Amino acid sequence: MQRTLVKNSIDLVNQTIKLQGWVDSIRDHGQVIFFELRDRTGKVQVVGDKSLKSISTEDVVEIIGKVAKRPENMINAELATGEIEIQLESFTILNKCGEMPFQINTDGKDINEEIRLKYRYLDLRRARMQQILRLRSQFIEACRQYLFNNDFVEVETPMLTKSTKEGARDFVVPSRFQPGKFYALPQSPQQYKQLLMTAGIENYFQIARCIRDEDLRADRGFEFTQLDLEMSFVKREEVMQMIEAMVKKAVKEVGGKLKDENFPVISYREAMEKYGADRFDLRSEEEKKEGKLAFAWVVDFPFFKQVNKEDAAEVRDSKSGWTFTHNPFSQPKDEFLQDHLQGKNIEKILTTQYDLVCNGYEVGGGSIRAHNSEVLAQTFKIMGYNEQQIKDSVGHMMEAFKLGTPPHGGIALGLDRLIMLLSQENSLKETIAFPMTSSGRTAVMDAPSTLSEEQFKELGLQLRGFGSLNTASILEKIKTFLTQEKIEFHSFTHEPVFTCEQAAKVCNEPLASGAKSLVLKADGKAIMVVVSAADKLDLKTFKKLYNYKDVSMADKQMLKDVTGLESGAVPPFGSLFNIPTYVEENLLKQPEINFNAGTHTDTISIKPSDFAKIEKAEVGNFAK
Ligand code: AMO
Repeated sequence: MQRTLVKNSIDLVNQTIKLQGWVDSIRDHGQVIFFELRDRTGKVQVVGDKSLKSISTEDVVEIIGKVAKRPENMINAELATGEIEIQLESFTILNKCGEMPFQINTDGKDINEEIRLKYRYLDLRRARMQQILRLRSQFIEACRQYLFNNDFVEVETPMLTKSTKEGARDFVVPSRFQPGKFYALPQSPQQYKQLLMTAGIENYFQIARCIRDEDLRADRGFEFTQLDLEMSFVKREEVMQMIEAMVKKAVKEVGGKLKDENFPVISYREAMEKYGADRFDLRSEEEKKEGKLAFAWVVDFPFFKQVNKEDAAEVRDSKSGWTFTHNPFSQPKDEFLQDHLQGKNIEKILTTQYDLVCNGYEVGGGSIRAHNSEVLAQTFKIMGYNEQQIKDSVGHMMEAFKLGTPPHGGIALGLDRLIMLLSQENSLKETIAFPMTSSGRTAVMDAPSTLSEEQFKELGLQLRGFGSLNTASILEKIKTFLTQEKIEFHSFTHEPVFTCEQAAKVCNEPLASGAKSLVLKADGKAIMVVVSAADKLDLKTFKKLYNYKDVSMADKQMLKDVTGLESGAVPPFGSLFNIPTYVEENLLKQPEINFNAGTHTDTISIKPSDFAKIEKAEVGNFAK
């Protein structure tokens, strides 16, 4: 029998059908059991007998049953299939669902973000997330259709590339073929799309992934998606009109409501005077309640600004104290071209940049580009680049400009932001299937993570000490290493502990098998001394034994500088931090060694013989 989709079941009264999906909710009345079966198209009620006792919510099931009209008084007006129910004939559990980490019948906003993202595949089952993902897909489809109808060509551009100067830090990828060299992931397809204009494509677009290492915020991610486009032989207004028409059409197609049929155009100066910002919210309180979208264009931005010394990317991009406000590939407005070429009145030069704002967010930005190599070179000259530096940065673009590049311009829309506004959410994460946590860790899979020793070797990379690594990566590093070396270990996660006594208690282990890792300052240098938690270090004996004149506990700062960790979280491996390790004999006589591994909430346990194998430590008798 063919599968019927839930939404179609309503048309099949008195027929026997097969449904497949999830058990959404169960009502157990003893002899009669009801449950709602959910598939991608909706929910329908199934009625069966006691045999249904074995099902639980979120089980994946297949059922065969007869579609029956419900009696008038049993109709559920809230359900699209509320007029019918399925009288169960047989069912199979295709996959049993274990205990769910959280409920999925709420909007999910009260659940801790880390947990929601760890089980994102469950989180996405909730109705709100299903709607957003579908809205996103439909919005993109509407834009695509519009662009195809207007003679655009969809072209993909490389992900492994060179720094693209969009004003953020790059994410870099090491090359195995050329150890010591790196690719940068694209901050946008800016340069490639311009080269596609040189290539004669004329109308390009792409649903492009962009990757920028910048501070994470509710409206900013490391990874985001642009609807990126570029057109040849166009004026600023033509690009704006094209985009405005596309946005209006796509917004309406997904049921969005516009405040204005024509987007107001406001100059940067006017915006700053009126709203104190170049992105503003034009909605009234009433319009906010109605969920309207208030788009506007902002034009006539200054081309350059003074470098903000706090901004690492700006500091890196400029050599003169001047940097671009939006895009170094833009063309200045015609009336400022002479000043631009002569490097005069820099603060007054206006660019052809146009930004699209909506409800207080910048949802897009673009410009007419410099297509003349002299104009582009001059932009970099104003930023203090010499001939060689200009050639190294944009020589390839200047070369293309000398080989028949047409005048061109384009724009990129921030798709995640648009979907966020359309779905009336206030974080980009709600619009992305697998977004990162606020601390930059990936959903479900735990990245960033360490590499294996082989990978480091292959890539010709070596880490410069672990001081800069965060605590979680030390735990990872140790676990990876122990696994690689085929060393048997146990690891426990527990409530936070700060002393060996607390650790012994929560792990239910004898105090003596706890390794106390002490970072000491020995004749000015950091060393690590490891003793059993039941012992005390006999400093006098230790100094004598190893010929040190002056030994004291490292202060907090030294501990942090050397290990990057807090006291109580330091694992007993000096080698991890490039400092020598001394281990007290008593510890190695215990049946097991338990130690902290970078955090206050994890303890790892290994055999003393294995410890001796992996850590080249001086072993001595210096306990009291
Ligand atoms: P820009 O850097 O302004 O322009 O980016 C275009 C649009 O992309 C969105 N956006 C982001 N969304 C989420 N997270 C981020 N980190 C993020 N950064 C930007 C914004 C923004 O308006 N190459 C040019 C475009 C062009 O000139 O054609 C560019 O990338 O909505």
